[in-house]
Amino acid sequence: MPPTEMPPAAPAAPAALAALPTPTLLLDVPRMDRNIARMRARLERLGVPLRPHVKTCKSDRVARRIHGGVPGPITVSTLREASEFAALGYTDILYAVGIVPAKLPQAIALRRAGVGLALILDDVEVARAVVQAAEAADVTLRVLLEIDCDGHRSGLAPDSAALIEVADALRSPRILVDGVMTHAGESYSCRSDAALRAMAEQERAAAVRAALRLRAAGHPAGTVSVGSTPTALFAEDLSGVTEVRAGVFVFFDLVMAGIGVCRTDELALSVLTTVIGHQRDKGWAIVDAGWMALSRDRGTASQPVDQAYGLVCDADGRELPELLLSSANQEHGIVARRDGAPGPMPELPVGTLLRILPNHACATAAQFDGYHALGAPGEAGEWWARFRGW
Ligand SMILES: Cc1ncc(COP(=O)(O)O)c(C=O)c1O
Repeated sequence: MPPTEMPPAAPAAPAALAALPTPTLLLDVPRMDRNIARMRARLERLGVPLRPHVKTCKSDRVARRIHGGVPGPITVSTLREASEFAALGYTDILYAVGIVPAKLPQAIALRRAGVGLALILDDVEVARAVVQAAEAADVTLRVLLEIDCDGHRSGLAPDSAALIEVADALRSPRILVDGVMTHAGESYSCRSDAALRAMAEQERAAAVRAALRLRAAGHPAGTVSVGSTPTALFAEDLSGVTEVRAGVFVFFDLVMAGIGVCRTDELALSVLTTVIGHQRDKGWAIVDAGWMALSRDRGTASQPVDQAYGLVCDADGRELPELLLSSANQEHGIVARRDGAPGPMPELPVGTLLRILPNHACATAAQFDGYHALGAPGEAGEWWARFRGW
């Protein structure tokens, strides 16, 4: 090929990234630290401790970073996470998915190993099974009742007769009815700051109301646990609340940016990918990150700005305006201009490294065994392992 027809060379990638296989999950540690500091400062002002939900990070390195280097109180979404974190010295763990009888042996084994595990439930039959299992094993179990504060998912209505019925079914010397927990999942559908503030208050009020009713019925109910990232960051008053659970704040993602909880330049997680080809007549660059790397999560599809499978950045993390991962096959992604965006597709020679910001950090991170954790620009990264499975 004559020199004038040579394809343009890929721009030199930062040395720390050029050696990595792609796709790779990148974690921008300084951004993550700023996200953690923001959440901590907010909750300190409101006078309530954080019990981070580690289902997002599933990583000891990240969880310790949230707690200033030590294993602190955490929330988990699987008993596998509980076991993995317990083995690393975490002793105060809330398993925040409704317990079922089949999982009680695993929970009891963790309690026997000295883990301060708390379980949640919202069903009278499950309550009876928990009492039976705890008494048979001669083990004390700590239980929170799950409260439905917004019609989003599971839980008991704070004013329901069933709340007291379930708590009463737990009366046993082997059970501590320790309180209530709720999660305002409807906060993800809020579209204004005012709506987020109102949702945070709705979450708080429901949990506090339920706890007061339990106390009036003679249950200890000292714990009042609330939280989602949007409500944690928009709550103006957390009177009566004893802890806040938030998870995705640690990385943030495009869904959170779409709700207005963060900016896209605060997203700490991205997928490093390589341009592997083009369909120039269609305005496409093809990359080696498809849904196997980004996940199938299209959480922004229901938001005012649809970010397709992710926002495209250069290898240094600078956003390339109007470029999206417009569609995804298993291992191929298609980079194209956002619908209606003016101007031509930029030159992205084969071999160019790009970063894709994900819709849903928890789902994208779950595609990988670990993070390539990046420090200051130019610094070589470190490998931080993640847990997987159930
Ligand atoms: C029970 C529970 N608590 C807390 C959270 C944390 O929410 P976020 O990731 O918005 O911080 C979740 C998230 O799904 C959850 O299910």
